[in-house]
Amino acid sequence: MILVPKQKHPIPGKRLIVTGASGFLGWHICRKAVDEWTVCGVHRSHPIHLNGIRAINIDITDRHQFEKTFQEINPDAVVHTAAATDPNWCQVYPEGSEIMNVTVTSWIAEWCAESQIPLAFTSSDLVFEGMDPPYHEDSPTNPVCRYGEQKVRAEQTIGEIYPEALVCRMPLMFGWTGSELNNLDYHVIQSLRRGETVSLFTDEYRTPVDGESAAKGILHFLGKARGVLHLGGKTRISRYGMGKKLEDMLGLKESTINPVKQKDIVKPAPRPADVSLNSSKAFGMGYDPMALDSALEEAIKNLDAGRRSRLHQGSRPA
Ligand SMILES: NC(=O)c1ccc[n+]([C@@H]2O[C@H](COP(=O)([O-])OP(=O)(O)OC[C@H]3O[C@@H](n4cnc5c(N)ncnc54)[C@H](OP(=O)(O)O)[C@@H]3O)[C@@H](O)[C@H]2O)c1
Repeated sequence: MILVPKQKHPIPGKRLIVTGASGFLGWHICRKAVDEWTVCGVHRSHPIHLNGIRAINIDITDRHQFEKTFQEINPDAVVHTAAATDPNWCQVYPEGSEIMNVTVTSWIAEWCAESQIPLAFTSSDLVFEGMDPPYHEDSPTNPVCRYGEQKVRAEQTIGEIYPEALVCRMPLMFGWTGSELNNLDYHVIQSLRRGETVSLFTDEYRTPVDGESAAKGILHFLGKARGVLHLGGKTRISRYGMGKKLEDMLGLKESTINPVKQKDIVKPAPRPADVSLNSSKAFGMGYDPMALDSALEEAIKNLDAGRRSRLHQGSRPA
């Protein structure tokens, strides 16, 4: 790999590459980072419409495109969120998803190690089996699906290539990103409002966090912490529990939530029961995610405001 020497660069300021900039978390990271960094957002099939972001449209699994982009930008730091994120797709297409989730991560780790620049990578709570929560950073990993296995391999690869890098294990995330499509909250909230039946697991527990808090946390630790860090939310709750909270907040008198068990809904990827994260290490280092109730209220508010103003700045077209 040929590294461009650190000298005067046509892009001014401190350059941050955010991969997955058109995705849920990448969108939040770009929005938060833009005040401090010159943000170069890598995307592929969805455009990024955010003020002040330099959008770079590549297929990052193409090594030539990856190297050309990184050489041209010559970043001062990287946040790598791009991934094949649907566990069911990863289960059915293990080879394609392995390239995205593991191989690309190793290229980025090599680049950052050679350049000696900060790297934050987003892993997942699905590295755990879900039988012995809450999970600490040093709890043994034992994923039940291929996506989780790939995240474990990506973490290990980073640890070998660039131990100074930060590996953020993310929980279930929610919140508004400016798009109605590909937004779980939107579909759940709108279905509940319309009185439609929404099936939610009573036996699947997570420590969810809103996207904005997650993005703040990652940027807070970028270049300041190394190794694995859990960035979970403060509350352990089931998906059913979250749905009930939303119904209360929406003022719905009659519940249309259909409580289901994991065994009732069979999908290609097995689902762990309870991968709640213990994030006390990060809390002790200044990570302070919004409380769940406030974050859910905020999600409803932003969703309604976003729908009223589809052309609002920073919307994420689907
Ligand atoms: N969301 C969660 O609840 C959650 C929970 C735990 C961990 N995580 C982790 O957090 C990270 C972000 O998740 P997310 O939910 O924000 O993801 P997402 O919304 O599914 O977005 C994935 C991003 O990856 C990009 N991407 C995929 N393949 C690409 C390729 N070949 N070349 C270039 N870009 C490519 C997509 O670009 P285009 O859309 O433009 O193609 C998109 O920007 C991931 O590492 C995920 O594993 C997420």
